[in-house]
Amino acid sequence: MIRLLIIVVCFVCAIGVPLKAEVVHVETQNTSLIFQIGKNKKVYQFHYGSHIGNLTGIDKMNSIFNEVYPSFGNGESNEVALMVTHADGTMATDLYYNSHSQEVAEGIQSTVIRLKDDKLDLFVNLHFKAYMREDVIEQWVVVENNERNTIALQQVASSALGFKAESYYLTHFNGSHSHEMRLTEERLVNGVKSIETKRGVRTTEYDNPSFMLSLKEKAAEDNGEVIAGALAWSGNYKLAFEVDDQERCQMITGINPFASTYHLEKGEMFKTPRMITSYSANGKNQASVNLHRWARKYNLRDGDKIRPIVLNSWEGAYFSFDAKRLKEMMDGAAEMGVEIFVLDDGWFGNKYPRNNARAGLGDWQVNKKKLPKGIDDLIDYAESKGMQFGIWVEPEMVNPKSELAEKHPEWIVQRMNDRKKLLERNQLLLDLSNPKVQDFVFGVVDDILTNHPRVSYIKWDANRHLENFGSTYLSNERQSHLWIDYAKGLESVFARLKEKYPEVIMQACASGGGRVEYDALQYTHEFWASDNTDPYERLLIQWGTNHFYPAIATAAHVTKSPNHQTGRQTSLKFRFDVAMAGRLGMELRPDDLEKEQVKFAKAAIEKYKEIRPIIQFGDLYRLLSPYDADGYAAINYVSADKSDVILMVYSHKHHRRVERNVVRLQGLDRDANYLIEEINNDGRSHISVNKQLVSGGLLMDRGLKVNLRKPLQSAVFQLKKVN
Ligand code: GLA
Repeated sequence: MIRLLIIVVCFVCAIGVPLKAEVVHVETQNTSLIFQIGKNKKVYQFHYGSHIGNLTGIDKMNSIFNEVYPSFGNGESNEVALMVTHADGTMATDLYYNSHSQEVAEGIQSTVIRLKDDKLDLFVNLHFKAYMREDVIEQWVVVENNERNTIALQQVASSALGFKAESYYLTHFNGSHSHEMRLTEERLVNGVKSIETKRGVRTTEYDNPSFMLSLKEKAAEDNGEVIAGALAWSGNYKLAFEVDDQERCQMITGINPFASTYHLEKGEMFKTPRMITSYSANGKNQASVNLHRWARKYNLRDGDKIRPIVLNSWEGAYFSFDAKRLKEMMDGAAEMGVEIFVLDDGWFGNKYPRNNARAGLGDWQVNKKKLPKGIDDLIDYAESKGMQFGIWVEPEMVNPKSELAEKHPEWIVQRMNDRKKLLERNQLLLDLSNPKVQDFVFGVVDDILTNHPRVSYIKWDANRHLENFGSTYLSNERQSHLWIDYAKGLESVFARLKEKYPEVIMQACASGGGRVEYDALQYTHEFWASDNTDPYERLLIQWGTNHFYPAIATAAHVTKSPNHQTGRQTSLKFRFDVAMAGRLGMELRPDDLEKEQVKFAKAAIEKYKEIRPIIQFGDLYRLLSPYDADGYAAINYVSADKSDVILMVYSHKHHRRVERNVVRLQGLDRDANYLIEEINNDGRSHISVNKQLVSGGLLMDRGLKVNLRKPLQSAVFQLKKVN
């Protein structure tokens, strides 16, 4: 139902005429972001926090603290959102209110505040999209150059928000390959704290462009004031938090300005990436729930569609396979109930066969030796087993040992002047700022999908950063556009593929979790959270990832034990219990499983099919953190109507008898009774109330005693509301 609730018209400000609107109120159900237009016609942020319905007296309160979009040259000396070299060569910019508009439709309030430099024809439009039910606000900025000539954008942030509190605690997520999204929480002290990357591609491998900022004190999961934020951008980003001696925190987030001067010709516009925030007065978990609900509905591709169960060939076969081996894997996968078989790296290249990571990347023709009957033969086989078929690509990259590198050396990102090309995983990056390269990269997937229309899943990988900065396509004056134009080029390829192949599932992988952000997630259905598939390590990674990105998008695979990355041995049950917390898949050679294990896997997959709507569409509550010293981890999922609950509990240490093992559930209907049943095990139970009725109130307040004592043990429970 399309319902236009309010339309607030533009108020054009003319010198000397009193403003009709002094307040711009961006609002959701529970939050308010309020701006005031001062008598000096500057726009200030007044409040971002709980919803304030009645604004009587706001004009006399005198508690504004920061300009809505601070610019270099505005008279302040803190971090800025905007820095421009104008057409006349000058660098000061001072922005004033010009007009604003606001409308609400279908639960979304859209606001634009238009600012203008007081001397030059530079316009800055601040966009706010408030998702009212989800309590999420999206912000971006459009700069319009109406000056006499080209201007140079030195910095243009997506958002500038200010806070005032006694103290600030910043939770952020960092790591490295196979070690992504490790949670860190620190107190911010005076000065600038910056979370950023200068790697250009695979940008979320070391730090993620997301954070939770707690105000006043460290927020708990269920208590305290928190702003959660995530930038939707696959290129370089910078999230800066500047705390001053007046206890103010100015948060400037967006594209990293590092070596990124961007020229804007007369009449051109520049649109920044989206910054997504959610304020919660009730702790961190609520902010995550808000983001997950928003993502499933408005950002993620097909966020309302159940995700199929995948068996990916990588850890089961690596580069060594032929059709026979793959078909054997398909036999085992189908027997266990897998729904899509995905053929990973190693299937292409003839002059330079892709038999290892040193050759063939770029030559996307089926390797005739390994697969003489081609891809369709594999698809036929998968389909005969009742499965769909997917395939791995890494189209942004090239091995120097490839026909592509021989044919198009000018397509490669390079430092110019014949400097040495720095290799990473033996490969180089193609220059996506070049439209011809964009067409090639699009064509790699387009060819696969037109020649093999039954391919229903693409795993899109990217295994290096940008480093060899330089482009043969961009002019000398525009070299600094490379960071931004690369990210925009990639986005346009993704958009074309989404448009042409709306039914094909896309996974964003970049050596594991190198592309976990909400821009890629507009075009992809899921991400590969990490190459590290050790279930204990995954507890830490998934815990971090799921602060911002929902379980439905978190690909999690059961692999072989001992684990290939860490050597740790775990039971198949533990591996399943961890992988079932996301989009369940497998990544092993089914023949390596014993008969009993196949039986277990089959039953677990069948169960997952039954409960996956709760995991993939439900609200996720973090109950016990794997980062705490206790040695437990626990989460529960609750369906929208609170009827169905899945509880997952893990132990990763040895526990003495006396140690705490009580899990308090969250999000249940307090007055309802729930029938609890332990699932995914052999009939034995780790609780005293198995198959009993217990009230939601008791489960949330008194908690459930789960008897897990040994390291790497787990228990999963299904709870059903009984009327
Ligand atoms: C990357 C991915 C893996 C796998 C390999 C193949 O490391 O993260 O999942 O696809 O590449 O080379």
